[in-house]
Amino acid sequence: MRDFVAKHVADLPPSGIRKFFDVVATMPDVVSLGVGEPDFKTPERVRQAAIDLLEEGRTRYTANLGIPALRERISHYLGRRFHTVYDPASQILCTIGASEAIDVALRTILEPGDEVLVIEPCYVSYKPSIILQHGVPIVVTTKVKNDFKLMPEELEEAITEKTKAIILPYPNNPTGAIMEKEDLEKIAPILIKHDLLVISDEIYAELTYGAKDHVSIASIDGMYERTIVLNGFSKSFAMTGWRLGYAAGPKDLIAQMNKIHAYVVMSAPVMSQQAAIEALRDDTLCDEDVSVMRQAYDERRKYLLGEFHRLGLPCFEPKGAFYVFPSIQKTGMGSEGFCEKLLFKSGVAVVPGNAFGECGEGFVRISYAYSVEELKVCIEKIEKFLLENNR
Ligand SMILES: Cc1ncc(COP(=O)(O)O)c(C=O)c1O
Repeated sequence: MRDFVAKHVADLPPSGIRKFFDVVATMPDVVSLGVGEPDFKTPERVRQAAIDLLEEGRTRYTANLGIPALRERISHYLGRRFHTVYDPASQILCTIGASEAIDVALRTILEPGDEVLVIEPCYVSYKPSIILQHGVPIVVTTKVKNDFKLMPEELEEAITEKTKAIILPYPNNPTGAIMEKEDLEKIAPILIKHDLLVISDEIYAELTYGAKDHVSIASIDGMYERTIVLNGFSKSFAMTGWRLGYAAGPKDLIAQMNKIHAYVVMSAPVMSQQAAIEALRDDTLCDEDVSVMRQAYDERRKYLLGEFHRLGLPCFEPKGAFYVFPSIQKTGMGSEGFCEKLLFKSGVAVVPGNAFGECGEGFVRISYAYSVEELKVCIEKIEKFLLENNR
């Protein structure tokens, strides 16, 4: 029998995170700081909205774009929080997580050979999603000395006549870096000059720390018409398993994205959409739910930064998301070697930095979507591990 699998699919490497956690899953008594999902429960009122819908048996398909009331709430929310105005009838598409939105956005725009800039270290799905559309990912490497921000000169250098789009990954998984308004204002003229589309993954927009709120690149002059903003409920409302995200952007692009979405998945799950309406129903309740979690993450962030400082491992101060990205270069071990040894010798699972791109070598990603008690246990074990390895 012939090999039915397409070559570009067979050639796609499995996610580095998955590979690592397949091993972790076979080991009893491992404490993990590996997973990027909130340890909080979805707020009670949000869960109840889905329960009510199920009990009433209102379990049909929804409009392809999503329930109109949800799109209205999302539109209101984006305007209120990030000062961007989207027409709920034509500029918002509810998707199965931001994950589907990434895929559909790329399917909509890419022709074979089109180049897409990928800013590494970054979330693992961007490059494979580009390759699956026969596009070409072009990596732009960010550096700790630049706070892992995308620098204008590095952006300019990576652009060729084949570049069509850029995936902007801020607040960033795995580094926790953010791009502030003035950083975005520096790259916007370059994106406009080269007529590029921005796919801005803002799934961690609610999780930024310090006085300033997240700034969406769509709110920068000249960028609204060339930006598809991706966001969702997984991180800010602790709703990973509900699988609900959305894309907001120019009407024509959203219409084409909706065409693919309608053929492939029809609509996002109705109970998740109903729950999300409740999540965004009342501005005060919505902000309270988010801020309780944000404050808890912030405490953990500060705790971990202090601990890595004490342990002598240099750690970039993350300003967003829920990860720290300490350098382990001092230990003399590579990222994978460090993580494997830490796992097998000390029973602690963290993710090798190079799972997020080659430039993540020398770092590890530690998620603080875990309780302070769990973090303390892990830090004790890491301290012991470092002492045993003479660091
Ligand atoms: C940067 C980033 N984008 C997108 C996603 C996917 O989110 P969703 O659960 O909405 O599909 C994740 C999940 O970890 C992520 O870290």
